[in-house]
Amino acid sequence: DDGGDLVAAGSSRDTRGEPDAARGDLVFPDGFIWGAATAAYQIEGAVAEDGRGASIWDVFSHTPGKVASGHTGDIACDHYHRYADDVRLMAGLGLTAYRFSVAWPRIVPDGSGPVNPAGLDFYDRLVDELLGHGITPYPTLYHWDLPQTLEDRGGWAARDTAYRFAEYALAVHRRLGDRVRCWITLNEPWVAAFLGYATGEHAPGRRDVPAAFRAVHHLLLGHGLAASALRSAGAAQLALTLSLSPVIEARPGSGEAAARVDALANRQFLDPALRGRYPEEVLKIMAGHGGLGHIRDGDLETIHQPLDLLGVNYYSPTYVSAAEGEPANPAFPGSEGIRFERPDRPVTAMGWPIDADGLRTLLLRLSRDYPEVGLIITENGAAFDDRADGDRVHDPERIAYLDGHLRAVHDAIMAGADLRGYFVWSLLDNFEWAYGYHKRFGIVYVDYTTMRRIPKESALWYRDVVRRNGLRN
Ligand code: NOJ
Repeated sequence: DDGGDLVAAGSSRDTRGEPDAARGDLVFPDGFIWGAATAAYQIEGAVAEDGRGASIWDVFSHTPGKVASGHTGDIACDHYHRYADDVRLMAGLGLTAYRFSVAWPRIVPDGSGPVNPAGLDFYDRLVDELLGHGITPYPTLYHWDLPQTLEDRGGWAARDTAYRFAEYALAVHRRLGDRVRCWITLNEPWVAAFLGYATGEHAPGRRDVPAAFRAVHHLLLGHGLAASALRSAGAAQLALTLSLSPVIEARPGSGEAAARVDALANRQFLDPALRGRYPEEVLKIMAGHGGLGHIRDGDLETIHQPLDLLGVNYYSPTYVSAAEGEPANPAFPGSEGIRFERPDRPVTAMGWPIDADGLRTLLLRLSRDYPEVGLIITENGAAFDDRADGDRVHDPERIAYLDGHLRAVHDAIMAGADLRGYFVWSLLDNFEWAYGYHKRFGIVYVDYTTMRRIPKESALWYRDVVRRNGLRN
């Protein structure tokens, strides 16, 4: 038993759960999308099957010292073989949507050149399985697994990679476009550029700040090229997912510090994609770190494609204060004179402060500053040190985290934010990048020795939220 039956057995409609706004229940809009999210390298495993090429994460995770305990994604959650069971699990939880990512090295093993039909077959089967269970697929085309051959030719620091990305995106659309409506181009380009190319904490592990700023631009260019190609090919909805973090002044008089970090963390991506320009602060910093020669005439028009949805990944705010003489934080080149503070607040197992109100203010700010784009939360969730006790996983902190954040989301909707849906990160415990399997974000526990899935108490709680389309008072 993988736990799927357990969930499915309790999933018949419970009328006692009918939401009652009069009683103070928090009811979400009709048709609100309730989902869970994952990413290819974090769950699939099967890294050498059906013609898959190597990605930067294969090479990086196999490099000693890069990932905690030497963990790799070689097997991960074995989702590649267990996808049908995992879809059954989602159906048991009543999810109406599933966000996953497509592994570029399965589709174009060498990064450019021939398409691998066997790689497409896997996502073809997955999409059919989802649709067969009434679950809407939300694929992300790039969740950090760049084909290694492209990295060998310069990676995202090279302009060519943007064009190769658009070709790959079209190849996926050609196969799945008859069944997939909404396409998410990139996941968290800030992380891909700065942790990949500036701090080296993520693949490809480079420490080259000018390369990181070139990567920003080429990721954005890849997004624009892919969005425009997919639109012409008939894609119904296009989205871009960003890691967004409201920046909070931890001390009075830190307004400039907060604005600069907001420019680097948030507006560096929001403004090009949604307004066709980089923030002035960012241009100034870029100019001092390798120059602006990589930005060509017409690029910002290409990047500025009409988008249907902005995918919001939210975990925590960023707290900063002005501090003379403070060296730049390596993840935020240009942040000289700014201290990144640790507020006195409860944290998750990642050490990330828990602040649900940050999500409310973020959503309201986005709907005020970028009113033309709909919003969807493509990730929100928390890691805690979960332990399985037989077939039970007691995770009250995760329930409290999700409940608090969903209340904040509901407040934002009531205040006018155009928010269409919510995906919890993550469906399953999985490979948490440089932390390996040590951090558990799933609402479903994975026993990595047996690959057994155990829905945590938070999964059963979430199932009720989805069933009621809301939260009990
Ligand atoms: C953001 C990333 O998109 C995802 O891959 C990661 O596991 C979560 N946040 C948690 O760190």
